[in-house]
Amino acid sequence: MSSTGNLTSPESGNTQDGTASASGLASLVNQSLPRHVAIIMDGNGRWAQAQGKPRVMGHKAGVKAVRRAVSTARALGIKSLTLFAFSSENWRRPDKEVSLLMELFMTVLKRELKLLDQNGVRLNIIGDISRFSPRLQKQIAEAEARTAGNEDLILNVAANYGGRWDIVQAAQTLAQKVETGEITSNQITEESLSQHLCMQNQGEVDLMIRTGGDFRISNFVLWQAAYAELVFTDTLWPDFDEQAFHEAIAIFAGRQRRFGLTGSQIEDLRA
Ligand code: IPE
Ligand code: IPE
Ligand code: MG
Repeated sequence: MSSTGNLTSPESGNTQDGTASASGLASLVNQSLPRHVAIIMDGNGRWAQAQGKPRVMGHKAGVKAVRRAVSTARALGIKSLTLFAFSSENWRRPDKEVSLLMELFMTVLKRELKLLDQNGVRLNIIGDISRFSPRLQKQIAEAEARTAGNEDLILNVAANYGGRWDIVQAAQTLAQKVETGEITSNQITEESLSQHLCMQNQGEVDLMIRTGGDFRISNFVLWQAAYAELVFTDTLWPDFDEQAFHEAIAIFAGRQRRFGLTGSQIEDLRA
């Protein structure tokens, strides 16, 4: 996989002028296993409330579901798993819930790190972490450094992440390069912008799953999921198990991804 993502790199689909190269697209349309899966882990609060428990119990149960999802992704051979843990809009929640989530984040990071490392998982936190406590920021940096050499699965945890923020930060970096004369404004292209987004080396999102029954993207990976297959399930996140993950993969495998082509062009590409 090149650094520019599935759809904008010559080797995986498109030539420089944006036209599809047959060999690149063929590999994408023949892909029955997504390489990059992103999950909007929704429904923790409702899961807890249904049992008469406080919302935080739902977040705690959600951590178990994260552990299961990571091991299922590894077992399946998925290359990147991107989990939405805390959105840039989640600061609007009651202070108590926000601080409980921060605490949980720190505890889980500490507790799970060794196992993640032993299992060849590379941890990558995406989002604006500058708003987190210095202690949490330090913990994140250490966890990323410790697992940096792992290659079995990249686990991207989106924390204080927003898809619009991601695009803006990439645009700002490019604007700075224009200011310093490193590039000219006409070198701002889809390709160069995508190179400055989070997860730029991991290919675009192939499959986006949302649990919890709602049908929206909630400002998650907007650019990277431009051509993702979307799967929505009523299952609440704490109940999302191996079987539910396999079902989502089966739905993906049954879809025809067309990338702008016609159905019969796709049939021709499907050897
Ligand atoms: C998702 O579950 C987890 C976070 C947003 C942190 P919610 O907390 O949104 O659960 P519901 O949607 O209220 O059930
Ligand atoms: C999306 O869930 C964010 C995470 C899963 C972290 P929300 O529960 O915050 O989404 P909305 O606000 O209902 O769209
Ligand atoms: Mg929710």
